[in-house]
Amino acid sequence: TTIYLKDYTPFGYLVDSVHLTFDLAPNATRVTSRIKFRPNPEATDRTFFLHGEELNLIRAAIDGEVITPEITAEGLTATVPDAPFIWEAVVEIDPANNTALEGLYMSNGMYCTQCEAEGFRKITYYPDRPDVMSTFTVRINGDLPVLLSNGNPSDKGEGWAEWVDPWPKPAYLFALVAGELIAHPGQFTTKSGRDVELNLWVRPGDEGKSAFGMEALKKSMKWDEDVYGREYDLDVFNIVAVDDFNMGAMENKGLNIFNSSAVLASPETSTDANFERIEAIIAHEYFHNWTGNRITCRDWFQLCLKEGLTVFRDAQFTSDMRSAPVKRIHDAIDLRARQFPEDNGPLSHPVRPESFQEINNFYTSTIYEKGAEVIGMLKCLVGDEAYSEALDLYFDRHDGQACTIEDWLQVFEETTGRDLSQFKRWYNQSGTPRVSVAEDWADGTYTLTLSQRTEPTPGQEDKQPQVIPVAVGLLGPNGDEVRVTKVLELTEAEQTFKFTGLAAKPVPSILRGFSAPVILEHDSTNAERAFLLAHDIDPFNRWQAGRSLAEDTLLRMITEEATPEADYLDGLLSVLRDETLDPAYRALMLGLPTQSELAAALHDKGITPDPMAIWRAAETLRQATAQHVQDLLPRLHSETLVDAPYQPDAEQSGKRALGSAALALTSRLDGGIKAAEEYAHANNMTQQLTSLSCLLRAGKGEAELAAFYDQWQHDRLVMDKWFALQVSMAGPETTVETASKLTEHPDFNWKNPNRFRALMGSLVGNHAGFHQTDGAGYALLADWLIRLDPVNPQTTARMCSAFQTWKRYDANRQALIRKQLNRIAETPGLSRDSTEMVSRILGA
Ligand code: ARG
Ligand code: ZN
Repeated sequence: TTIYLKDYTPFGYLVDSVHLTFDLAPNATRVTSRIKFRPNPEATDRTFFLHGEELNLIRAAIDGEVITPEITAEGLTATVPDAPFIWEAVVEIDPANNTALEGLYMSNGMYCTQCEAEGFRKITYYPDRPDVMSTFTVRINGDLPVLLSNGNPSDKGEGWAEWVDPWPKPAYLFALVAGELIAHPGQFTTKSGRDVELNLWVRPGDEGKSAFGMEALKKSMKWDEDVYGREYDLDVFNIVAVDDFNMGAMENKGLNIFNSSAVLASPETSTDANFERIEAIIAHEYFHNWTGNRITCRDWFQLCLKEGLTVFRDAQFTSDMRSAPVKRIHDAIDLRARQFPEDNGPLSHPVRPESFQEINNFYTSTIYEKGAEVIGMLKCLVGDEAYSEALDLYFDRHDGQACTIEDWLQVFEETTGRDLSQFKRWYNQSGTPRVSVAEDWADGTYTLTLSQRTEPTPGQEDKQPQVIPVAVGLLGPNGDEVRVTKVLELTEAEQTFKFTGLAAKPVPSILRGFSAPVILEHDSTNAERAFLLAHDIDPFNRWQAGRSLAEDTLLRMITEEATPEADYLDGLLSVLRDETLDPAYRALMLGLPTQSELAAALHDKGITPDPMAIWRAAETLRQATAQHVQDLLPRLHSETLVDAPYQPDAEQSGKRALGSAALALTSRLDGGIKAAEEYAHANNMTQQLTSLSCLLRAGKGEAELAAFYDQWQHDRLVMDKWFALQVSMAGPETTVETASKLTEHPDFNWKNPNRFRALMGSLVGNHAGFHQTDGAGYALLADWLIRLDPVNPQTTARMCSAFQTWKRYDANRQALIRKQLNRIAETPGLSRDSTEMVSRILGA
């Protein structure tokens, strides 16, 4: 069944308080609930329906009188008084056999929960919807040393603990953890003087990996006070690391639960990229305390209200903690790699969708990352000051409420006086707008004509023009900026902007800072791109100029059998030589568009992409780059040496990023000699992993791979890397075979989402390997999706999106993929999650 935004109605009852008692037992946990309901004066429908799935109801009573409700697979219905009443229920659940990792489940002997979006209904009968908010009191009885829930601890004894959460919250923010855990303690005093006890809980053996997360938490708490004026509101804040987890992490009130890959870190076991990601996710979950928890969503269609805003906030945080330009470039790379394919394929949906079957399928890059971009554009349009004012009003007015996008836009309309009705299309219209550029130059006047169009997307044939902030600066012939950045507001299908009084025809720098999540179609010459690469003062567009040169040369190599262009190679060389540039930035300059992005670019030009041709072009360009910059490589190696003890900060990790990029090029020239040396001396995971990947790419590294396994066999997170690396680094012809062999490895614990994704995600990410013409990659993935679906529908459904780009490819590949999609679709008992994904991908 499909659920529609337009059908929203409030629940017929309000909840004044919830009291839960858990008697923990792996196969028969008893959950006793005592809930105070009263009729909701705002509602007309008085049906008393409580969600509940996979629950064994032992007893139900209303005001102390036992009742026999009507029960279905989705929940129960009962007759209740037309006045306040007390609902009581006892249910039994089986956490040890809960492999879906939703509701209450077990991971390595530890009890934990994941309730967002609709997991609470697998714990007890309840109106499991975000607009029903209540305070919770929780008693946990269990024979385990650490018993945690939301809020503040109120009392405890031998084998039990009680928690009180004074802040009304929806059930999706409920959490419980019980196990043998070790705390990494910390402390934070809020601006107004509240002492908060912090704890990061890990399983024995992981103690050495919690310090970094704790520091990130303190930085986040401070930053939210400084930048948004938001303080923490409980006496304790707990974070728990869990090995089996479907997503990255979860912002449960006062008790954040993290996938261990998103919190545990040490220099020996984590890469620089891991550290940066962990810092961002800790911040993200912490920031949810205000944007998500104190102000929550009215219904799941409003998911971007909390996710887009919180992603935007964590990006601001990372920009402040590290390098703002580098963060912006990373975000643009990720958006193009993940969100653009989604927005331009069968899974395209608006930032605020209008319907869904399974909400778990909408925790997407569109809702998160495009949702964050929409907020960035709003801030760019109204200005920083107005943004802060609007946010203050938002927190003030809506604290304690379950809100909508309309509420959000309203505070901006009120504080700025702007009409945001057209801007709102960013929330309702799916698809990536394409902005094309035409230029004219006459009599000292430069005329820029911008036009926008958005291709039809599923369910949306006709698109209206959106409000697109296009940041533009102009450069004069000698590279000086003759017009500083100005934000042009493109609101019509086509619009003309004039710049007068110029001495010479300028070179435009368009969409500076990636001011809107659009595809810019600008037929500039490679000479102009090279000019921007040399002179643009906007770091994003300078990088973009290099990226466009790379893309242009790759596309010509693929379609015209051209050789690598000198504009690109020379431009790159001078950037690499420029020691005034941040090493991290120079490392980014060395990156190429992904092979999947190139496939999309070819498809856009009406050319059917051939993954092998794309792979060969990328290899050739890499090889040519290595040769072109080879004299510089020794200098890059010495310039990027880090003598100081390992720190995962921006400075050191930037150096290592450039050093790794240089090593990858060197390995193409020396066959891996230097990489082998580096591997032998590596004393942190970043170095160990980059040198090993260089060796594997060079067709070497067999001994190192075995040594790596022996060294890290005991460490789950490092073993994920071991699996991923082999599949990512395999050549196109051996990718599937490598992946398939690894599925037989005793350490391939496929029920663990991290391990499953490490292997299967890398298979999909190895573009040319996955898309081999025999279809073996498609078949292998489908086999495993079919196997995983009954065990863990959420993770299965997510990975189905590997097939979302299928219509780009040739008839043979399309037929092979369709066959696998049909095979999945026809699997008896296929989950609602995967059914929805496969049918949307098929376009059914
Ligand atoms: N709210 C979490 C976050 O963004 C994501 C949890 C989503 N979980 C899920 N099963 N859909 O941090
Ligand atoms: Zn979030």
